[in-house]
This record gives sequence, structure tokens and C-alpha cells, in this order.
Amino acid sequence: MKEFQRHRRLRRTAGIRNMVRETHLHTEDFIYPIFVKEGTDIKNEVPSMPGVYQWSLDRLNEEVDEAVGLDIETIIVFGVPAEKDEVGSSAYVHNGIVQEGIRQIKERYPAVTVIADTCLCQFTDHGHCGVVRDGEIVNDDSLTLLVKTAVSQAEAGADIIAPSNMMDGFVSAIRDGLDEAGFENIPIMSYAVKYASAFYGPFRDAAHSSPKSGDRKTYQMDPANRFEALREADSDVEEGADFLIVKPALSYLDIIRDVKERHPLPIVAYNVSGEYSMVKAAAKNGWVNEKDIVLEKLTSMKRAGADLILTYHAKDAANWLKGEK
Ligand code: PBG
Repeated sequence: MKEFQRHRRLRRTAGIRNMVRETHLHTEDFIYPIFVKEGTDIKNEVPSMPGVYQWSLDRLNEEVDEAVGLDIETIIVFGVPAEKDEVGSSAYVHNGIVQEGIRQIKERYPAVTVIADTCLCQFTDHGHCGVVRDGEIVNDDSLTLLVKTAVSQAEAGADIIAPSNMMDGFVSAIRDGLDEAGFENIPIMSYAVKYASAFYGPFRDAAHSSPKSGDRKTYQMDPANRFEALREADSDVEEGADFLIVKPALSYLDIIRDVKERHPLPIVAYNVSGEYSMVKAAAKNGWVNEKDIVLEKLTSMKRAGADLILTYHAKDAANWLKGEK
């Protein structure tokens, strides 16, 4: 008989499989998103994202306590403001909903790392991520507002600033702004590679951030493009990004690998809302095993090269990982 390899030797027992496993998930890998909403006594489940809620500040501790109790160490805050206007003013006021949420979490848990999502779309009445003039999203004017937002979030105690609006030059503008305001030690986690994706649908329900007209294709990337992702990542690294986010994750594992191989920076996979909701819906129908499928997909993101995973599954996954120990 022709010689062949006995690969199955290393799969024979659970003990051996554990020994040779190449990729491991840890609760420290997870970044858990929390939606804070202006108002009182709010715990609203997002219809398209079962298990994900909008929280008012007076109830926010319930959610934060639960996450911290599961050993989640990093939280990213998204805001749902009461007032929106043309220039997204509620994104950069001192007592904005994101700023207040950050203050509250940091006060209660100084050791938890709090990331601020820095964007305008939840705060503008037109729902775009920048300033709109004559139907166009104006790049450089948007940067000014984004910098104001980032500085106000740092003043509120954010440990990391995560700009997500995909304007050109946002990393260098925010780096300058933070440095001038005395925040040279606050890192930037850039949404460096962000595709114009249909997988964001449920998030826009959660954050009320859908564009009222048009789409985001003049600033977010075409899903068909790979080399463009490398150019985006290169610019952000040159401009001083400390972390690079690739978003979405599951349909873009090739991009995660490309970016990781090219840049020796921590890479974050953003496991977005649509990826979450599809699993939830299928699991609810009994079509897939939720635990197995979630742990498999999170593992695949790390195997592709992600160091960290921003995921709505974080609490569940942390719970499952505890059970496996
Ligand atoms: C925009 C933003 C988006 C998400 C987070 N911030 C995308 C968008 O609406 O274009 C999507 C996240 C998700 O789907 O989980 N600032």
C-alpha cells in the first residue's frame, strides 16, 4: 500500500486534542458593546438582536455588573441620544449620553477598560457619519466634529478612542486633537477597514442610526475589495493608530489575515450585528446549536489573525468558557 500519514493519531482522545489545539479563546479577548440611551428606566430589547438591550443610565449598572461578573474586562459604549441635529451636537457635549455612560462605568469599575465609539451617525438627524452639504458627506469639516467628540470622550474618562466614521485622515486629526488636549497617552483603536455592509442592519435598529437618504458607499468600503483594505490600514498605521479594526468579521476573515500579516499591531475583529442576529434566529428555530456555532465562529476569527473580538456574544461566550474550565 502507498504510504500515508496517520493524522488521526492527534485526534484520538480529548486530552491529545487539547494538547495540539492551536487557537484558544479567552474572555480577555472580548470587547463587549453596550448601548446607552438617554431617558429613565429603560431596558429595551432590540427586536432584531435578541439578548441585546438599550439601557438608560439609571439601569446601566445591571448590565455592567453582569458583564464584569463574567470577567469581561473591556466594554465599548454606543450612545442613543434624545436629540439629533444636522451637526450631531449631542455627540460632543460635555454631558452627552456616551460621555455620561463612560463616567458612570469608570466610576464604578476603574479597572474596566472603556472604549468610546467615536462617530456622528447616531447623533445627526440625517443619519450620516459626517457633515452633509448638497447631498455630499464633507470630509474635512466632519473631522473637526469628530475630534471634538473624541476629546470630550477622553475628558469623560474613556481609556481608548475608537473612531468609526471612515473619513480620510481621522486618525491623524484625532491624534493631534487628543495630544493638544493633554491626552497623548490615550490610544486610538481605528476602524481602519470598514466595509459598506448589509450585516449592519440590526445595529441600525439598536442605535437608530440609519441614513435617512442615500447610503454609506462613498465612505465605507466596497466588499469586493482587498487591496483597498491594505491601503486603508497602511494610512491609519502611518497616522498613528494603535489598534486596527476589521469590520465585519465573518465574511472578511481573509482581510483579517492580510492586515495581521502586514502590520504588527493588535488586530480587532468586529463581529457585527447581522452576524449575531443570524445565529440567534437560526438557534431560536432549533436549526443550529448556538453555543457550538458561536464558539466556532469566534475561534475562526482568532485563527484568521484577530487578537481581540468585539462581539455581542461576549457575555454568553464568557459564560460558556467558564463552564469549560
Ligand atoms: C457607524 C457604526 C456602524 C456599526 C457600528 N457603528 C455601522 C453603520 O451603521 O454603518 C455597525 C455595528 C454592527 O453592525 O454591529 N458608526
